[in-house]
Amino acid sequence: MFKRPEFNNTLLNWYQANKRNLPWRETSDPFKIWLSEVMLQQTQVITVIPYYEKFITKYSNLDALADADEQSLLKDWEGLGYYNRIRNFQHAVKEVQEKYDSQVPDRPDEFFSLKGVGPYIGGAVQSIAFNNQLAAVDGNVLRVMSRLNRDGRDMTKASVQKDVKRYIEEDMPLEAGDFNQALMELGATICTPRTPKCVICPVKEHCEALKANEVMQYPLKKKQKAKQEYYYNVYFILNDKGEILLTKQEDDLLKGMYELPRYDVDTSLESIEDEYNIQLSQPGSPVGDHKHVFTHKIWYMEGYIVYTVNDNENFIPLQDVKNLPMSVAMQKMMNLINTASESEL
Ligand code: ADE
Repeated sequence: MFKRPEFNNTLLNWYQANKRNLPWRETSDPFKIWLSEVMLQQTQVITVIPYYEKFITKYSNLDALADADEQSLLKDWEGLGYYNRIRNFQHAVKEVQEKYDSQVPDRPDEFFSLKGVGPYIGGAVQSIAFNNQLAAVDGNVLRVMSRLNRDGRDMTKASVQKDVKRYIEEDMPLEAGDFNQALMELGATICTPRTPKCVICPVKEHCEALKANEVMQYPLKKKQKAKQEYYYNVYFILNDKGEILLTKQEDDLLKGMYELPRYDVDTSLESIEDEYNIQLSQPGSPVGDHKHVFTHKIWYMEGYIVYTVNDNENFIPLQDVKNLPMSVAMQKMMNLINTASESEL
């Protein structure tokens, strides 16, 4: 175990002198800090910056975001992934609007009861915005702590994460928000996964893994599971009014996002005709493919154009498609016909 008070001071001093200028570090507005942490929870800093700037310009306070149209929010979130984050966030800020007069609660018990607020978001927002003495344990922090303590436990386990959180909170300095951000900053800039810069690490004297010359052995690597592969046919069903058939996703992660009809490769066109009550005039001409790699899976998609004379509520004018929220995987597919349309359609 390393000497915490000395470690805490050294790390805080290093952070004050070396922290990056990030836009959410220029505000004390709890709503903006919360928004930034929701974005940062599963996305890298460099990707988040332009989205954060766009959101605080367009939704400059809690009420603006609470009152926004969900489809516009999803559209603005397009490309960040994990779309349930923004839906849960809006749900939570609406609750804050109604129950707490639009003031983000500074009481952890109230804040933790809001939708989408788990140990990470709760700890990060309560410490950064209100200096409540809570830890915010993300992947960076877990890596840093496993190295400092030469802790060989499985850091992906919730019970271990809980224990790390408790350990940090036992000796939390008064500047809890800065301390959490300092641990994250150390993980993001010095104690990185593959090429840690131990030589310039401000807390190298405290690092048990470094003393044992075993930094790269921590955190313990679990065997990577192979990504599951899925093969789909994706249909561009076009009618004679220049409209295209789109569906709205229902599953939890992508709920509210639009997509092209996507089916296992052995699904017949007849069953698609039945599903949408349409008649398709030809078997479909291939327009190209796209492989999309997600965190835990891979989609192989083949695109086919099929024509119909039908028209129902699922058809949307082609020129309106760009205004609808769509996952990056589906946008890549749409690009296939945007290119093809210049010559063929
Ligand atoms: N990652 C998560 N929260 C962060 C923050 N506040 N600053 C930088 N990186 C982060």
